[in-house]
Amino acid sequence: MQDYKNPRLVVDSATTTPGKVAWRSPSNLALIKYWGKYGQQLPKNPSISFTLQNAYTETSLEYRPQTDNKPGIQLNFFFDGVQNEPFKEKIVAFFDSIAEIFPFLRQMEWTMHSRNSFPHSAGIASSASAMSALALCLCSIERRLFGYLEDESELLAKASYIARLGSGSACRSVYPKLAVWGETPAVAGSSNLFAVPFTAQVHEVFYTFHDDILLISQEEKSVSSRAGHGLMDGNIYAENRYTQARQRMYELLAALQKGDIETFGRIVESEALTLHALMMTSNPPYVLMKPNTLAAIEKLRVFRTEQKVPLYFSLDAGPNLHLLYPGEFKVDVQRFIKAELEQLCQNGRWIADEVGEGPIEI
Ligand code: PMV
Repeated sequence: MQDYKNPRLVVDSATTTPGKVAWRSPSNLALIKYWGKYGQQLPKNPSISFTLQNAYTETSLEYRPQTDNKPGIQLNFFFDGVQNEPFKEKIVAFFDSIAEIFPFLRQMEWTMHSRNSFPHSAGIASSASAMSALALCLCSIERRLFGYLEDESELLAKASYIARLGSGSACRSVYPKLAVWGETPAVAGSSNLFAVPFTAQVHEVFYTFHDDILLISQEEKSVSSRAGHGLMDGNIYAENRYTQARQRMYELLAALQKGDIETFGRIVESEALTLHALMMTSNPPYVLMKPNTLAAIEKLRVFRTEQKVPLYFSLDAGPNLHLLYPGEFKVDVQRFIKAELEQLCQNGRWIADEVGEGPIEI
């Protein structure tokens, strides 16, 4: 099994000059959900996601070889320009956990700046964009200091692997448009270790898709994703769920290729509700949807039937509703959001997003 451990990635402190890299990396929305893991952040079932465009993290990483060889990871961390201790501790623990992959992590003094395009309090999972941006920075540094990863696909595969170790679903954010994570016979080259781009003859309508995110509640979640994954181990529906997800990959991929928006919508909505059903059937059970999540779903279904607009919803592990629709319906859908859904959002907030082009080095 590839583990990327590489003892050769050490620098000569005397001759290495300080430097800086920076990446902008987006969030992603799972269409088939990853929920349940084993080992070191390995998924129990394959998943596929849209890469988003407007919800992203920008991270810069400056490095300077240490002269006094202090023990442990030396990191200064700034979020939105302000030092942030809790985030810093998480990054230090992450760097420690991957120090056998990048031994130079212990040789440098690091300064990291991170900011999100969306408000920090928005209740949007920022771990996918944050961990993918950081993983890309580390791979760029490897390329610059050691000359490895010259090939773009090699760099992205390794960044995906590293992002996975930080936050599972983050591994899908390194690719444009659509990415698959988790071994499935439906996608050649798919792996549990990293995501792969999904480009196999997807009907062009799906590249025009929008994902407008209703910020129903911006409170911190009562149960974290980490704890939620853990509770799948005792969930009596878990094995059936994994089987269902494996089968659905075939159905969804066929719909994506055919341009079958109705089948796409049916599966994606069921995936969202299945994810939340798994939470409600965990032990202890919990509910992350809010009354306004359900109110928005009701309104969406009426709008879809009456207006004959192919508008479908999805959910992450939280109360916010993702509205998915082809680009040609943007005006109709956004008029509907302003008229009927904005009032269900906390402080009337929602974010207009769409299928995106993937990360860029900045
Ligand atoms: O990557 P994690 O551990 O935050 O889990 C994310 C899980 C979902 O967002 C609910 C589904 C997914 O596949 O992204």
